[in-house]
Amino acid sequence: MQKILILDFGSQTTQLIGRRIRELDTFCEIVPYNKFPKDDPDIIGVILSGSPYSVYDSEAFKINLDEIRGKYPILGICYGAQFMSYTLGGKVEPAGTREYGRANLEFIEEGNKLFKNFTPNSQVWMSHGDTITAIPDGFRKIASTASVEFAAYQSNSEPIWGVQFHPEVFHSIQGTQLLKNFVVDICGGVQDWSPASFVETTVAELKAQLGNDRVILGLSGGVDSSVAAVLLNKAIGKNLTCIFVDNGLLRKNEFKNVLNDYQCLGLNVIGVDASEKFYKELAGVEEPENKRKIIGKGFVDVFNAEAKKITDAKWLGQGTIYPDRIESLNITGRVIKSHHNVGGLPKDMKLQLCEPLKWLFKDEVRRVGRQLGIPEHLIGRHPFPGPGLGVRILGDITPEKVRILQEADDIFISGLREWKTMVDGKEVSLYDQVWQAGVILLPVKSVGVMGDERTYERAVALRAVTSADAMTADWAHLPYEFLAKVSNEIINKVKGVNRVAYDISSKPPATIEWE
Ligand code: XMP
Repeated sequence: MQKILILDFGSQTTQLIGRRIRELDTFCEIVPYNKFPKDDPDIIGVILSGSPYSVYDSEAFKINLDEIRGKYPILGICYGAQFMSYTLGGKVEPAGTREYGRANLEFIEEGNKLFKNFTPNSQVWMSHGDTITAIPDGFRKIASTASVEFAAYQSNSEPIWGVQFHPEVFHSIQGTQLLKNFVVDICGGVQDWSPASFVETTVAELKAQLGNDRVILGLSGGVDSSVAAVLLNKAIGKNLTCIFVDNGLLRKNEFKNVLNDYQCLGLNVIGVDASEKFYKELAGVEEPENKRKIIGKGFVDVFNAEAKKITDAKWLGQGTIYPDRIESLNITGRVIKSHHNVGGLPKDMKLQLCEPLKWLFKDEVRRVGRQLGIPEHLIGRHPFPGPGLGVRILGDITPEKVRILQEADDIFISGLREWKTMVDGKEVSLYDQVWQAGVILLPVKSVGVMGDERTYERAVALRAVTSADAMTADWAHLPYEFLAKVSNEIINKVKGVNRVAYDISSKPPATIEWE
């Protein structure tokens, strides 16, 4: 399958370049700058990303341009453009102050292929400390901005372009058009990716890869593992065994409901209620990281005990998606985060890893899930942390605290689903307007009054955030009337709670979860 190769020089927006290209329904792959796959016949063009470094830094990431020059069309973005200019005989100098923010393009040359369909003064986003002050011989300037002379340049004889701005970010209004001009018009990319074609080719590949082998897969109730399971089920049917563990820290009725959903989807799923084991091991433990470790190890123990019963299993299926893998590799190719349940699998099982979603971004996983007929309430689910309510009960965990939190959380989440407001002329639930939401049980009691009685009970905090990727988040500006309704309902219905607060911290400096 033809692909655009993105060489990652470490910019925070490299992944975004990949996403934008996928949104054009063309395939691309991001690899560390020093891992160019030589002899890959599918590459049709190369993009050099931005970088946190200046070309003058001693640690700056460098490549031998001769290895790609003349073989593929090349687009350098920010550092990528500076690096090419600097290496080929141009000049790069510190910009004095960092140029950061919106700017408008002035075209020196009309009708350049890279800027097809651009409007005059098109807004772009700049973020760089160095700037190009001279371009190499044989290159020409094609666009400037008020403060950046060489905002875009091109070689006179080769398909090489450089842009000082970031077409991949949202504030570059026609950035996707620029990437389309490069990928489709210049590199000849075919826009033929669709969820249906992905399902068809992946199912065929899985059938060929797995034959009659047995696969086991741990389900979490989340989108990724669910889509991976349904895809595998379509390929190998009953040779797939799924394991869904109740650690006692799931949302109210979650285990029952999700298990039922999985069964309706035709999955061969074993549900294991291990709540008691988890409560026992967590008793009296207050320190957040210790709780996480106990919950993580507990999951591996339960999963392994079940997996071992399937003696002829050859493969471990996982819902790993592309960003997980990019995050797992730092730019030097070293693993910095390993997939959570691989490390703990018993060595004697010798399972091979099967990750059918490993090339997909989250939005693509959702599109594939819809194509597979997975119900919308599973596809549109908020992220939920692996340790579940365990990191939302501050301090030690008891079954009674879990019950209180489940009740309060259920009122909040059901309320978000039911309350709708108009967004762009359409009715959208608050649930679908926020990235993630939940309730936190606080380790404090406060005085209240109910009827004529003094109460001395627990406080809970509601948390709802908007975000694009969980790296940063803002507290959601939920309507006061909604917050009032939820607060009333929690205090009236949840025995043990007499106070509700709303968390108005953004990330950073706070985090989404409290522990
Ligand atoms: P924070 O709290 O770091 O959360 O802002 C960012 C995102 O990650 C989720 N999260 C976790 N997910 N295991 C997980 O699988 C964890 O230990 C964990 N901690 C946080 C969190 O819900 C949010 O979506």
